[in-house]
Amino acid sequence: MRLPHAIDLDDAALRESVARKTESATTLLRRIATDYRPAALANSLSVEDMLLTDLIHRERLDIENFSLDTGRLPTETYDLIAAAETRYGRKFTWYYPRHDLVEPYVRTHGINAFRESVELRRACCHARKVEPLQRALAGKRAWITGMRAQQSATRAHLPEQVFDEANGLEKFNPLADWTEREVWAYIRLNDVPYNALHDRFYPSIGCAPCTRAITVGEDIRAGRWWWERPETKECGLHAKQP
Ligand code: ADX
Ligand code: SF4
Repeated sequence: MRLPHAIDLDDAALRESVARKTESATTLLRRIATDYRPAALANSLSVEDMLLTDLIHRERLDIENFSLDTGRLPTETYDLIAAAETRYGRKFTWYYPRHDLVEPYVRTHGINAFRESVELRRACCHARKVEPLQRALAGKRAWITGMRAQQSATRAHLPEQVFDEANGLEKFNPLADWTEREVWAYIRLNDVPYNALHDRFYPSIGCAPCTRAITVGEDIRAGRWWWERPETKECGLHAKQP
């Protein structure tokens, strides 16, 4: 089994498509920075979000950057934050879950109750991610994610721009049409820091107890909430696309 970043960087067609998509993502980010201020990147430290961080830094764009610390992130993700803060010379802004939501959940249901049902999993994601996201987005005119259409069945029709009804602001997905290969080519060509778990066959990384490595033939989100059916695998940060 090949690691996702084991790609041929001399492939001219790949370099050409990365250059073209980088140009169009940059144009979009510039437009967001001028027309939708204050805008913010929701940064999960995924390769996609690191790519966007790199573009925003390179262009010196006035776009904020926030991350949601669920309290259950893998050690490797925290290690990457330190590397990214050094590389980009800025501190990440963190949002934490409210103790008055997490403590009753754990007391009532248990520390790993998210494995018992989709409802309990969604309730955990709500307390640890969705409610902090709502606070992070308050007062913003737009938010930016690193989502791609190819990531899963639930994202197949992902638009580049959409009004986020749930949160009441514009939402942009500048990498909607990027392939995994193109993302990794950008990361490697520009020496962008990435999560060490990717070297251990974790293509998609969320909270530690809800993320595992994938094996031969599995799709890239097979390691997220692997005990659930593909259609339910969204944490509530992102409304379902039609
Ligand atoms: S999830 O819905 O399954 O958790 P995924 O990990 O694919 O989402 O991330 C999709 C996008 O959601 C990321 O590119 C990022 O913009 C946002 N996101 C997810 N998790 C976080 C987080 N912990 N902090 C900030 N943004 C996040
Ligand atoms: Fe809870 Fe898992 Fe969702 Fe993280 S991904 S908030 S641990 S259910």
